Amino acid sequence: MKESLETLREEIPDRIAHCETGPEIEHLRVEYLGRKGKLTLLLRGLRDLPPEERPQAGEQLNRLRRVTEEQIAARLAELKGREKERILSEERVDITLPGSRWERGRIHPLTLVMDEIIDVFAGMGFEIARGPDIEDDYHNFEALNMPKDHPARDMQDTFFVSGECLLRTHTSPVQIRVMESRKPPLQIIAPGAVYRHDDDATHSPMFHQVEGFMVDSDISFADLKGVLTHFIRQIFRPETKVRFRPSFFPFTEPSAEIDIQCVLCGGEGTSQEGQTCRVCKGSGWLEILGAGMIDPQVFRFVGYDPEKVSGFAFGMGVERIAMLKFGIEDIRLFFQNDIRFLRQFR
Ligand code: DAH
Repeated sequence: MKESLETLREEIPDRIAHCETGPEIEHLRVEYLGRKGKLTLLLRGLRDLPPEERPQAGEQLNRLRRVTEEQIAARLAELKGREKERILSEERVDITLPGSRWERGRIHPLTLVMDEIIDVFAGMGFEIARGPDIEDDYHNFEALNMPKDHPARDMQDTFFVSGECLLRTHTSPVQIRVMESRKPPLQIIAPGAVYRHDDDATHSPMFHQVEGFMVDSDISFADLKGVLTHFIRQIFRPETKVRFRPSFFPFTEPSAEIDIQCVLCGGEGTSQEGQTCRVCKGSGWLEILGAGMIDPQVFRFVGYDPEKVSGFAFGMGVERIAMLKFGIEDIRLFFQNDIRFLRQFR
C-alpha cells in the first residue's frame, strides 16, 4: 500500500504535465480516478488494512485524490487557454480589408414598361383586374366569339394543358371573367403573361399583354380613339403621330389596328443614309395595338343587353412596346437574364 501510494504520488503530476489535449487528460482521469482507476482501487483496499493503519493511509489517499483532481482541472484550463490564443492569432480578422459592396438591384425592363403602362391607365381611372394563366376553352375562345371551328383560332398557336384547359393565348378572357361577375360601368385593364407556340427573335412562347376595356351605356369609337391616343403619347413622345387602320378581330366590330410613327426613322421609311428603315421596313409605321368596339355577340355571352350597353376593348404586347421604346431587336434578351443587359435599365 505504502509503495503504491508513493509511486502514484510521483507519477501522476508527471503524466498530467505531459498531456497535450483534452481527451488525453480525460483518459488519464479515468486511469486514476475512474471506477476501476488505480487510486480508486487503493482507496477500496483500505478496508483490508489493520484498523490502526486505516486513518493515516485514508487521509493520505484522499489528499492525493483531491490534489490529482485539482491538477487535472488546472491542466485542462491551461490547455483551453492555449487553444484560444492559437485561434486568436491564426484566425485573425484583418479589419483594414475593404468591405464587400452591396450591388443595387434593378427593375426588369418589362416590369418598368408594364408599370408605366398601368400608371397611364390608372391616371385615366382604369382599375386593374387579373385572370388565370391556365384558362378554359370557353373563356379563351368561345365567349370571345371564336367557336370551335373558327379560323381565327389558327392565329394563336395554343398550348393545351388537357381537355378543355389551355394556357391563355391572350389576356382577352379577363374581359369575359370581369363582365360575367360585374355590371357596367366598367373601366378595366388586365396585365399578365400569355402563351403561344412560337419562338424567334420577335416571338417568345411566354410574353406579356395588357388588355383594356370600357363598358357603359354610351361608349363610342371616339372614346376609344381619345383614350388610346392619350396613352400612346404618354408612353412614347407627346407629338407621336397615330393611325387607326381597319382590321378584324372576332370579339370586336368594327376593329382597328393602331400604328405609331416609326420610332427609328420618324415615319420617313428610310435611314439617314437613304436605306430602307430596318424597324418599320420602309412603311414609316409600327403596329402597336389591336382594338375595337366590343362585339354584341360577346355581350350576349356575358348576359349584357347589346341594345343597352356599348364598349371598346384593346390589347397590346408589352415586349413589343419595350423593344420599340428601348431599341431592343431580340425579344429573347428579356428572358436570358444576362446581367450586362439588365443593368442598363432604370
Ligand atoms: N387579343 C388580341 C391578341 O392577342 C389583341 C386584341 C385585339 C385585344 C383587339 C382586344 C382587341 O381587346 O379589341 O392578338
